[in-house]
Amino acid sequence: MPNKNRNEPLLSDQLLEQFHRSRKHSLDLVLNLSPEDCQAQSMEDASPAKWHLAHVTWFYEVMVLRSFEKNFSYWNPEFAVLFNSYYNGIGDKHPRSKRGLLTRPSLAEVLEWRKNVEDRIAKLLKDHFCEDLPWLMQLGINHEQQHQELLLTDIQHLFSNNSLDPAYYPQSKPTLQNEKSFQWLKGVHGLVETGYEGSEFHFDNEGPKHNALNQMHSIGNRLVSNSEWLQFIEDGGYQNFRWWLDAGWAWRQAENISSPLYWSKDEQGRSLRFSLHGNRLLDMNAPVSNISYFEADAFTRWASENLPGFSGARLPTEFEWEAFAKSNADQCNDLFGEVWQWTSSNYTPYPGYQPWGGIAGEYNGKFMVNQMVLRGSSAFTPTQHSRPTYRNFFPTHARWQMTGLRLAKDGV
Ligand SMILES: [Fe+2]
Repeated sequence: MPNKNRNEPLLSDQLLEQFHRSRKHSLDLVLNLSPEDCQAQSMEDASPAKWHLAHVTWFYEVMVLRSFEKNFSYWNPEFAVLFNSYYNGIGDKHPRSKRGLLTRPSLAEVLEWRKNVEDRIAKLLKDHFCEDLPWLMQLGINHEQQHQELLLTDIQHLFSNNSLDPAYYPQSKPTLQNEKSFQWLKGVHGLVETGYEGSEFHFDNEGPKHNALNQMHSIGNRLVSNSEWLQFIEDGGYQNFRWWLDAGWAWRQAENISSPLYWSKDEQGRSLRFSLHGNRLLDMNAPVSNISYFEADAFTRWASENLPGFSGARLPTEFEWEAFAKSNADQCNDLFGEVWQWTSSNYTPYPGYQPWGGIAGEYNGKFMVNQMVLRGSSAFTPTQHSRPTYRNFFPTHARWQMTGLRLAKDGV
C-alpha cells in the first residue's frame, strides 16, 4: 500500500497495549448480554453483537495475519465469507440482511476465535515486527472502535423492539444538561484550513488538508434540545410539508414518522425515550438524538420562523463546523461525546483525495455518494476515537445512530 495518509509508526509495545485494550473493551461491551442478545438482528442496517465481535476479528485475520504471519492458515476459511462486510477485494459476502440467521458459529466459538487471533497478533508484533505492521494495526484498532459504537447502537435498536424494555446498563447515568440559554457565536470565515494534519492515526477521508471558503456565519453555542424538538412536534412540524424537503416529506409519509426514533408516550401522555437505560421520561434538557437528516433539515426551517432568537437557522456546513471546533472548543462542552451532528455537506472527496491502496482502499472512498457528513462524536463513541477533522456519514433517512444537530445561520 502507498504511504499516503499514513501516520508515524508506534513502537510495538505501545501498539500491543492499545490492541489488547481495544479487544478487551469489545468483550466488556457484551458482559451484560446473553448469547441470545448477541444473536439477533433487528433490521438490515443493524448487525448482531456476535457478528460485530466476529467481523472485527475477521479484519485482523485477512488484513494483518494473512499478509504477515508465517505459515498462515485461516481458523476457518469459510468465515472469510461469513464475516466479510463489504470488501469486494476479499471475495464473496454473506448477505447483510441475513446476519442474524448465522446461528453457527456459536458465540462460544467466536470468542475462542477472537482469543486465537489475539494471541497470533501479539506473537506477530513481538516476533515479526516490520514497517507496514503499525499502520495496519492502528487501522484494525480504529476499525474495532467503530464497531464498538455500532454494537451499542444496534443493541439499542434490538432492545427497543422488546416490550419488556430491557435496560442494557444496570444503573442510570447522568445525561448532559444543556440548561444554558441559546446564543449565536461568531463562526470562522474566510479561507479556513480543513482536514487532518499531524502524525496520529486518521482516516483517508479526513485529508488532504486544504482550504475551504466559509462565508460570514454564526454557530449555536449548544446542541438542539429535546425541549425544542418537542415544540416542533407540538406545533405540527411533522404534519406541515412546508418545512420539509420533498424527498424528506415523501419519506416521512411513507414511514409515518412523527417523532425522533425511540420516542413514545405513556398513559398520562408524558413523552418517553427508550435508551440503553430502558424506557425513561424524556429528559427535556438533553440533546435531541436519533433524528434523520430530513428531520434535522425540517427543524431548522421551522425553528427559523418559530423559535425566538433562532431566525435564519440552518445546518452548518462541515467546513464551518470544523473551523468552529478547532477555534471555539473552550466555549462548547457538547461538540464531542453527546450526539453526532448533521451538516449540510454532501459526503464527497476533498480536493486531491486518494483512497488508501490495496484492500483498505474500499474502507471509505467507495461510499462517497448519496450520504451527508456528520461531525463530532456521540456518547457511544469510544474515547480517543474523535477529533475535529473526523467525518462520519449516513444516508438522509438513517436515524438509528445517535444523531442530533447544532444550528448555524448566515451573517453575525
Ligand atoms: Fe467493518
